[in-house]
Amino acid sequence: MSSSEDKNSHATLAARAGGHIDTGSGGVVPVLQPSTTFIRDENYEPLVGDNVYGRDQSDQVKLAETILAKLEGAQDGLLFASGMAAISCLFSSLKTGQKLIIQSGIYWGTTAWVRRFCDHRDIILIEADSSDTEAFASGVLKEKPDMVFIEVPSNPWILTSDIEAISNVTKQAGAILAVDATAATPVLLRPIEFGADIVMHSATKAINGHSDVIAGVLSCLDESSDLWAYLKRERHGAGAILSPHSAWMLIRGMRTLPLRMERMCLNAMAIAQFLDGHEKVEKVWYPGLEEHQGHHLAKKQMPDGFGYLLSFLVKGGKSEALDFCRHLEGIHRATSLGGVESLVEHRHTIEGDMTGCPENLIRLSVGIEDISDLIGEIDSALSKI
Ligand SMILES: Cc1ncc(COP(=O)(O)O)c(C=O)c1O
Repeated sequence: MSSSEDKNSHATLAARAGGHIDTGSGGVVPVLQPSTTFIRDENYEPLVGDNVYGRDQSDQVKLAETILAKLEGAQDGLLFASGMAAISCLFSSLKTGQKLIIQSGIYWGTTAWVRRFCDHRDIILIEADSSDTEAFASGVLKEKPDMVFIEVPSNPWILTSDIEAISNVTKQAGAILAVDATAATPVLLRPIEFGADIVMHSATKAINGHSDVIAGVLSCLDESSDLWAYLKRERHGAGAILSPHSAWMLIRGMRTLPLRMERMCLNAMAIAQFLDGHEKVEKVWYPGLEEHQGHHLAKKQMPDGFGYLLSFLVKGGKSEALDFCRHLEGIHRATSLGGVESLVEHRHTIEGDMTGCPENLIRLSVGIEDISDLIGEIDSALSKI
């Protein structure tokens, strides 16, 4: 990519698919090349670049990684078959006897997998609340972990953690800091700017944004690090790659990512304000609200918007929460987040009793629909509980 393209804003970079054109046809859309293998010449050299085999190399995957790394301000990016494939590859770099600190109360799928993995590998696992910066920082300095993993904003508690402060202590402890920024996307939050070593996203969510691709990505601060070499080798060896078709869909989805984020943040803010103080609502978690635990920090870390995810407690218990979901007429009852269509989730049904997720907690992933329709549907469902 030329230096003028380097200076392009996120919206321009995304809309033009990283400045890519198809020189073969002149098409403004990248070509989809699904071949699993590539020809060698008479001297047994690859005919084109590094193209040998689909598990090592796909032009679509490479292009999607390049766009993502640019958006992230990272030196390099690696796409995986899912967000969990990216997370499990990252944690697989830890050796028996090493120590991992993860934020408590994050995406339950991550916590559940990491607990089993650490138990199996004899890795010491500590779970702690990283939204309490002081306590978390002193824990990192005392425990001297090998890796720290946080989620900003966290899912489903929508808590904000101070990446810069945590990165400072993580460096002092000699550990790697990895940040799952799925609920922000690189348009709203670039953890590498605040000192993170690795950024992770479930690209299944808002990066793709159309609820039709499962993908995960890791991006790095330093592509010459031993960890990055390990992750590249491991993805290739273990084979948790993204298909060219999914990468092509991801590139298409990303073309509107900045635009979608703008609208989703506006909608989420309006809904959070509507719910805040509503007679049927006990509490709202959204970083855009003044009273939110991390509002001032979120303004610094995410100056262009507070994200598309919010959680709230309806007054009452499980039956009122499920009634609210039942009475929603347009917003789908479905797991996942980050799509153009809004989704509602009763997290306790998914997580069960193990995680402490309240029975009256509702998580909303806010889409790009007309805001008066969204608020009308929410208002109507609340009036029926
Ligand atoms: C914050 C977060 N991280 C990671 C994941 C896992 O991603 P995937 O479903 O793409 O494996 C999810 C899935 O919901 C998530 O919400």
